[in-house]
Order: sequence, then C-alpha cells, then structure tokens
Amino acid sequence: MSAHIYVSGDTAAPSFNLTNKNLSYIFRVSPEGILEHLHFGSRVEPSAHYPSGPKRLHRSCTLDFQDSKLYSLSDVPQEYPVFGTSDNRTPALHVINADGNTTQVFRYASHRIVDDKPMLDGLPCARGGDSKTLLVTIVDEVAQLSVELSYTIYADHDVVARSSQVFNNGERSVSIEQAMSSCLDLPAAEYDLLHLRGTWARELNQERMTVPQGRFILESATGTSGNVHNPFVALMDKSTTEQHGRVFATAFVYSGNFAINIEKGEFDSVRVTTGINPFNFRWRLGAGESFTTPESLQVFSGAGLNGMSQIWHEFIRQKVSPLEFYKQPRPTYLNSWEAAYFDIDEDKVLELADRTKALGLEMLVVDDGWFEGRNDDTSSLGDWYSDSAKFPNGIETVAQKVKQKGLKFGLWYEPEMVNPESQLFRQHPDWIIGVPNRISSKGRNQLTLDLSREEVQDYLFERIDSVLSSGHIDYVKWDMNRNMSEIGSFALNVDQQLETPHRYMLGLYRLVDKIISKYPNVLFENCASGGNRFDLGMLSFMAQGWVSDMSEPIGRLPIINGASYLFPPSVLASYICPVPSHLNGRKVSLKTRAEVGFFCAARGVSLNAEDVDQDFEGLTRYAKMYRETADDVVNGYFYRVQYDQNEVVWQLNSEDGNTVYLGYFHILSAANLPFRKAHLVNLDAAKQYRLVDSDLSFGGDALMNMGLDLPYVCAMQQSDADYLEKGDFASRLFVFKRT
Ligand code: GLA
Repeated sequence: MSAHIYVSGDTAAPSFNLTNKNLSYIFRVSPEGILEHLHFGSRVEPSAHYPSGPKRLHRSCTLDFQDSKLYSLSDVPQEYPVFGTSDNRTPALHVINADGNTTQVFRYASHRIVDDKPMLDGLPCARGGDSKTLLVTIVDEVAQLSVELSYTIYADHDVVARSSQVFNNGERSVSIEQAMSSCLDLPAAEYDLLHLRGTWARELNQERMTVPQGRFILESATGTSGNVHNPFVALMDKSTTEQHGRVFATAFVYSGNFAINIEKGEFDSVRVTTGINPFNFRWRLGAGESFTTPESLQVFSGAGLNGMSQIWHEFIRQKVSPLEFYKQPRPTYLNSWEAAYFDIDEDKVLELADRTKALGLEMLVVDDGWFEGRNDDTSSLGDWYSDSAKFPNGIETVAQKVKQKGLKFGLWYEPEMVNPESQLFRQHPDWIIGVPNRISSKGRNQLTLDLSREEVQDYLFERIDSVLSSGHIDYVKWDMNRNMSEIGSFALNVDQQLETPHRYMLGLYRLVDKIISKYPNVLFENCASGGNRFDLGMLSFMAQGWVSDMSEPIGRLPIINGASYLFPPSVLASYICPVPSHLNGRKVSLKTRAEVGFFCAARGVSLNAEDVDQDFEGLTRYAKMYRETADDVVNGYFYRVQYDQNEVVWQLNSEDGNTVYLGYFHILSAANLPFRKAHLVNLDAAKQYRLVDSDLSFGGDALMNMGLDLPYVCAMQQSDADYLEKGDFASRLFVFKRT
C-alpha cells in the first residue's frame, strides 16, 4: 500500500488524513481557519466524521478566541500554534511584527499535494521516494506573514517528516524570535518520556520519566546539538515496554542549537514542539524574505520501544544515511589515536600499517597530530599542511605507501577550529566566532572558526580538497572539539548577531556538502569529542559517527544501548581500546572489548605495535570475525533484549534472518546469583536455530517463548554447567544459524 493524503470536507475548511498501511496523521480546519490536530497514531480510515476532536464549551477562566464564543485555543490541539490569542502555552511561532507587537492569527488559506518530497534549501533532510507531501499555507493578513507547513508521509516508513517556512509578505522587516519545525499536541493522558542525556564520554544515556505538569525542555545552546541532550524524545503510554505499547517520538535533523519542549498544560494535554532553540536566537526577516526551519521527524510505533527503534533504524538507513554507504560493510581499521596520540610520523605510520595488515584489518587511520606543528593540543589547528618534520614527503605520499600495502587510508581533520597559536589565526584573527572587546574563552586551547563566512568555508574547502584530490584518502574523520562561546560574527550587522549560530550551521552544511559531493566515495565519520554532535543532520552527510570517546566497553554499554533507541548499528563506530583503559582505568578482557564493539558497524582497534604483538592471535581472530560479519551488522536488525545496571543482552538478526547474534554482557560478578535467561525476539517460530560451535539446535518458538538460559556467573565452577568466564566484565556472543 502506498502513501495517501485524503482531503475531505468543504474547500474553506477541509480535513486531511495522511496515511500508509499502519499510520494516520489527521487534522482539520476549524470554521475560524485554525488547524486543529485530531490524531497521530495507528491507521484510521478517512471519513467525513471522526469520533474525537476539540470541544466547544464553557470553562471558567479561559478566553474565547477573538469573537468565537465557547472556542478557546487554550485546549485545542493545534498544528502550528501562536501565543497570545487565548492560548498561552509555548507556541510554534513567535514573531515581533513590524509594528512591534507579537500578536498573530494564522488562518488556513490553501493547500497543495505533491508527489514525493521537496528537499530543504541549504539544510539536510530525509530523502523522499514512495512518499507524498502536503503543503498547507496559513496566513495572517494583518501581520502580513504566512507560513507553509510541510508534511511528508511515506509508504513504507511510519514517519511523518515536517518543516515550516515563514514568509514576510510585508514591506518592513520582522523579527523571528521562535520558529519551530513541528508541534504535536497529544491528548490529555499520563505519559512517560524517554530521552538521551549525558556529557563527554558518557553520552546518550537513557532516562525514562513521567511527563511532569509544566514544561520540560531538552535543549542545547552551545552551537552544537550537544552531548547533554540529544535532539530526540519518545513519549509513550505509561504501560509501554520494549515490546508493547504506543510510542510517539521526534528526532530533529539539525546539528546546532535545538529545543524540544514538552509541555503538559492545565488540562493535561501534552504539547511537543521541536525546532531551533529560541533562546539566544533572533532572525531578522526582511521584506519579501522567507525562513526555512530544519526538518523534524515524527515516528509512531504501536509495538513498544523496540518497534519504534526498528522504524527509526530502517528510516535512517534508507532515507537519511548517504546512499553510497548505507548498505556498505565498513572497513575494519587501526586508528592511531590511542596507539600514538600526537607522537606520529612516517615511520610510525608505516609500522602501524604493517601491524594493520598482519592482523587482517583493512584500513589505517592517521588521527590527530599529522599537520604542521601539531605536537600537542595547544597549537596548529587551522594549518592543514603536512608537518614537514614528521612527514617530509607529505601525508599524501604516506597514504600512497599505506595503500601500496593493500590497505585503505584514513585521515583526521578538525576543520571548524583554530588554535590562537597558528598561522591561520595570525593571518585572520577575525575569522573566529567572537564579539568585539571581549576575550574569547578557550576550549581545548582552541577557538571556533566562523563558518557563516564564505571565505572561511572556501579556505577549508581548498585545504581539504588539496589532500583529498591526491586520490589516496578513503576515509575522513571529521572532528569538532569545542562548543561556542562569546557568540557573534565579525561579518554580520549588529542586529543580526544572534543569527550567528544558525548561519554557522548553514555554512557548515554548505562546506560539508561541497566536499562530499566532490568525493562521494570517501567514507566520512562524524566526530565531536565523541558524541557532542551526534544527530541526523551530520549523519545525513556522513555514514557513521564516533559515538563516544569512551572506548572502554563497559563504559560504552549504556552509550550504545541509549544510542540504539534512535540510531541503527550502521551509523556507529567503535574500536578495541588499550588496557587499562585510558579513559577510566578499567581492565577488560579482549573478548569483552571485541564483543561489545561487535554491535557497531565500523569496527577496529586503537593499539600500538607492542599491544598488537601481545594479543596478536586473539586480535587476528576478532579481525577475521569483524570482516566476516560486517555485512550482517551494517544491514542487520538490532534489538534490545535486556538492559539493567549489571546485565545487558542485545540481539542482532542478519538482513535475511539466517544468522542471529546474541550478546550477553555481565558487569560485576557476585556469589550465588540467580539463573538468568533471555527471550529472543523476531525469530521464525517454526524454524530451528543451530547454535554455532555446538551440536545444539532450538526452535525459534522456544528461544522466543521459553527463553535461552544464559551462562551462569560464578567463581566456583565445579560442574560442566555452562559458565561465563570468572570475574567482572564478562561476555558471551552466541551465534545461531537458521536451518
Ligand atoms: C577528539 C576525538 C578523539 C580523537 C581526538 C584527537 O577527542 O573524539 O577520537 O580524534 O579528538 O585530538
């Protein structure tokens, strides 16, 4: 069944039902011209009448909307609400009109339906294909503003993609204070919300909580989408579990300041608005100009949180990730960072390349430290020329030599940054984000370049192009290691200073798009001190991301578990770290390091020659396993089976369902523990599954309904029972083949 947009009712006040085989998104126009939201959830047949909708009745202490008796917007679910005409909840749009006030009344004017999906100008967004788009125009004649709301429904994805475009039809400038991409007004009920929060090296930890009365805001004001909150939220019925129940989720396709407001109002309905953070934002919209918001994606699942994740994973792979890579097994690699840090030169690279080759890995990545004068993190960002002492023949020559060994070659960049200690800063001190007469705060000794300026974008393009054009670079790790401060641009007018962060994003997207369009076969990895900008904006350009600097696997478990709510394994990168971990000092076996890393599509190691030699046999075995399973992980289906403080079980089914991987991770050992089992999901109930490296075979129905006994955790192993290895941080990766 394909995607449909049904329009019913009279032409002045139509109803819209956007459907596919599972989903309906329904709204209608009230006699006043207000867009009233009716339903987002399981499919509802189009009809002239629906059994539920906004009421017209008297409540004390609410206002009648203008001259409509008994009609108060304070409790009307709306598509794109504004403030101040009987609804005082957080609005979708807030504009200072040319005459200085903030009152607007937007009424339905027209709509059109287009096949497929228009792309957004200058902003990343999901691809179309087997989709239909409804464009609805609402107009305020007095303020001389209009908004075009865009809704795309897909045939095969339970996703509604939304954005809005604000037009100034008047002759004077107005000031946009807030322009959200979407608003979803959910009916009065008790909901839970799940969001992903953290900080550096502890990104994307899940938190589930009751939606409180009042306003709960997930946001960033750092110039990045950030590692404190991810631009994602899932609301659900309180009874929803991983496998059952309704979920309403939103993710934002944007990499800068965002806000997701969840507001439970006086009548218990819940409003979710998603968009650019209005805090410290202001956009001057001149006569005849328009402003396009980034895209907000809304997902509905009737099959619990795992069901939601399946929808996101498929959608991100097929509609967000770059087409060239989304199905491509990722090369296994050795990354120089935790192997050598800044102490890298041609000899060391070639030595590491030999180890990479000997282990059976496929790519060598030279991380930080390769460019002019970069011996620690105090200098040189911006000077993207090979360091003449470390690489006298140029990095391109080294890349060529590495490739001659039969390896791919990858290179680290942090293009958006500059150290005050650099040629670039000395030449262009005004190329930074900053404000006059203030000292700029430093982060990791560096400043942010002002990517809103075209000359800055052009410089960076030229520098990166000069290396990529050698044809020897197969992969780029695009890093970004500080947040913005003292926010302003030396190139913008006084009244446009608060436009800087969004203009920066537009500039960054333009630069990245230009590079990637020229080098579509170079694999890009998104990194921002790990996951400080891990969002669908960056991931629409870059096939994978370094999700966290926490490379130690036990520290990574909550990060990957949290990430999996939204992100498929295909966009996640990992590597086997040294022991003890440089991040938290933990000593974890090679087995557990490799088996946690298994669930990310991009897999490698970051070990020096000595560490490689010490674990050579084991590393070679895991390198082979990584190579052989690369296709299954990039194209497979990931499920959270169990997650608590001490035990984690993840399942991954290959695309064809013939191979099933089940990872069991046990964190702290204890004495006399209970027996545990795991109920597998999404197997073929009628088929048998053979446990690889054993003569055991089980029915799919048994594995799902009875559950599989997990190995017992115990230090006194006095029988031939199935034990997990002794001690803390143990793991087992089961592999089943469907027969
Ligand atoms: C950041 C990245 C690391 C590494 C260093 C290099 O911290 O997240 O993976 O590339 O920068 O300086």
